[in-house]
Amino acid sequence: MRFVGPRRKITSLSAAIAVVLIYVVLSPARTSAATKDGGKVNFEVRALLSKMTLEEKIGQMTQLTIQAVSITKGPEAGQLDTKKLEEAIVKYHVGSLLNAYDSSLSVGDWDNVITRIQDVATKETRLKIPILYGIDAIHGETYTKGATLFPQPLNMAATFNKRLAEREGAITALETRASGIPWIFYPVLDLARQPLWSRVYETFGEDPYLSAQMGANYIRGAQGDDIGAPDKVATCLKHYVGYSFPLDGKDRTPAWIPRRMMKEMFLPPFEKAVKAGAPTVMCNSSEVNGIPGDANYYLLTKVLRGEMKFKGFVVSDWGDIENLYKRFGIASSPEEAVRIAVMAGVDMSMVPSDYSFYDLLLKLVKEGKVPMWRINQAVSRILAVKFELGLFKNPYPDRGLEKGFASASSDSTNLQAAEESITLVKNADHFLPLAKNMKVLVSGPTANLLSTMNGGWTITWQGNVESLYPADKPTPLKAIEDKIGKSNVTYLPGASYDSLIDLDSAVGAAKNVDAVILFLGEHTYAETPGNINDLTLPEAQLKLAEAMIETGKPVVVVMLEGRPRIIDRIVGGSKSILVAFLPGMDGGEALANIIFGDANPSAKLPITYPRYVNALYHYDHTLAEVQGGNVFEPQWNFGHGLSYTTFKYSDLTLDAENVKKGKTVTATVKVTNTGKMAGEHAVLLYLGQKYRQVTHPVDRLEGFEKVSLQPGEAKLLKFVISPEQMSFIGIDNERIIEPGVFRVSVGDLSKEFTVTGKPVDYFKGFSR
Ligand code: BGC
Repeated sequence: MRFVGPRRKITSLSAAIAVVLIYVVLSPARTSAATKDGGKVNFEVRALLSKMTLEEKIGQMTQLTIQAVSITKGPEAGQLDTKKLEEAIVKYHVGSLLNAYDSSLSVGDWDNVITRIQDVATKETRLKIPILYGIDAIHGETYTKGATLFPQPLNMAATFNKRLAEREGAITALETRASGIPWIFYPVLDLARQPLWSRVYETFGEDPYLSAQMGANYIRGAQGDDIGAPDKVATCLKHYVGYSFPLDGKDRTPAWIPRRMMKEMFLPPFEKAVKAGAPTVMCNSSEVNGIPGDANYYLLTKVLRGEMKFKGFVVSDWGDIENLYKRFGIASSPEEAVRIAVMAGVDMSMVPSDYSFYDLLLKLVKEGKVPMWRINQAVSRILAVKFELGLFKNPYPDRGLEKGFASASSDSTNLQAAEESITLVKNADHFLPLAKNMKVLVSGPTANLLSTMNGGWTITWQGNVESLYPADKPTPLKAIEDKIGKSNVTYLPGASYDSLIDLDSAVGAAKNVDAVILFLGEHTYAETPGNINDLTLPEAQLKLAEAMIETGKPVVVVMLEGRPRIIDRIVGGSKSILVAFLPGMDGGEALANIIFGDANPSAKLPITYPRYVNALYHYDHTLAEVQGGNVFEPQWNFGHGLSYTTFKYSDLTLDAENVKKGKTVTATVKVTNTGKMAGEHAVLLYLGQKYRQVTHPVDRLEGFEKVSLQPGEAKLLKFVISPEQMSFIGIDNERIIEPGVFRVSVGDLSKEFTVTGKPVDYFKGFSR
């Protein structure tokens, strides 16, 4: 018996060596789409790995927040603490840092911070492995002062403009790299299928196709074809997967997603983004079907690696490995939590504040509870990204990039994005645009703030420190005053987010103007602090709107919000409504341009806007939801959005009426600007199959293209519908194409085609 301990140790050690050797010899070359030279990277990784101690390897798998290596008290708080930094990088071999101390730094300050960090990593450590610094960049580089802060992702989706997504990616990459940071935690590919969720605005909306397209285009812009280029970054897909569908609407609470729905809806955007070359993935911080994101071997290893062929590395979300023990209670100890996460497929732990992960993983490996091959695998993946980014050649900030930071052209792209992201959902009697000589009352809680146009992840995590916002960016009120002259504008807030403020004066002021422009919506939040119990807009704001409507003056409502708050009570009485969501730093100017006709709105809703709190639909409803007394009655449907001009669709044709299973069909449609104003227009193509072995959406978005048209101008658009787009997840949870009749529709036009082939046996799947 007494030999059992040591013998077991020796046996597992020799097994580990054998596995390492096999791994080293047999592991295939990395073929990440994020680099031009996967083979070389693979060679470099192997050479470095062979020199590393176990401690150095575990350090690479450890990520700490910058707070953990900063001075925490006194006037120096927030600056790097040399002792702590050296302890992290030299003693614990930490491989990655993230975050900002509290709020944004200037490019110059970031350069100093990153330089000091890389100095320690490359001058004071044995192997000189550079640090991989990561940062949140949900709508531009959150934590660099003066960065181009775009409309939030929900708005970017509303543009239906893939080129803008790509441009945003490129601009954000440059500005992040100019700050010395090569890794961004973005894009978010979670689907907004639960409108109460506080992170709806971080998503590209409710539809998997739209999300996948915007995500892949963003990645193309941010990474180019080589993340080692000086102005490119590595992206991080998040939060893999199913985080966005909490049953009770609260952040980080249980989601229940059957496998078919997972494969049909939630996985495809990630799959497309992996194909687009994203080299890192962040775990779902919550749980699906009772399994927390970091513990889900099936999703992290079988699906992500086995099916999607993801080659990069997986990082946990903030503190989530420990949460397997603390929050979720699925691990019996912090140590067991580490073992589960690492063996499920998490390669790097966003710990983020201490060395618990490092200590526990070291112990687990020494005791043979986590095999060495798994450590080598995780570390190889992390090192590969560092090599691909070119950090071994030059880990330091490139000062030359600063001249491109927040350039005039980036700002004009941002303004364009903001204008294209604001959806005109109602415009009775073509009330908008307003004439510039009108007298207006501007009112409402979001009229005179920059924070409520930007939302969370702006300068600070919560985005709510108005005093830190740039002085040169106009609020909506200021932008309107600039547009039509201060003397034409009266401003009285009337209400805060949830209480009335001198309603009588606001109503009194309405009597002396030609129109009321009411800015309603939400205060600023990120993540769990944004939890709500009721999707209805707070009573005070609805009362303010009703009081304004009662004056008989025409009321224009502008909704600045991170999710679609219910406003049915005031929709009928309002003349015009703009759903602006969170249009970003140039939102004020964009709104003024739209309201006064200097820009023509072209956005479409990327999410179905609910009318009732208990009727939360998605546009891709099934047949049963609109039959037998059931009505689909949202406030506005996904894809709804008006313009100041009119567009007509004609000549919808398909290149074939019958196609063999596995072949493409090409649809062509003509779109004409039949109005008097130039405009942008997103043409949305939907596809539906009449019968399938499982119930299915009547229609799903399968193509979109945005065009710019002068009055009278027409363009012919082509959409290739691939076999994959004709497929679905069948009874046995596998992707299949069922021969049958398909319907293609664009606006009111539709055409059918038939896919021919051997019929699918309905009972085949039931036998599994
Ligand atoms: C969020 C992530 C984010 C991370 C780092 C977490 O709380 O869920 O989206 O990337 O913090 O800031």
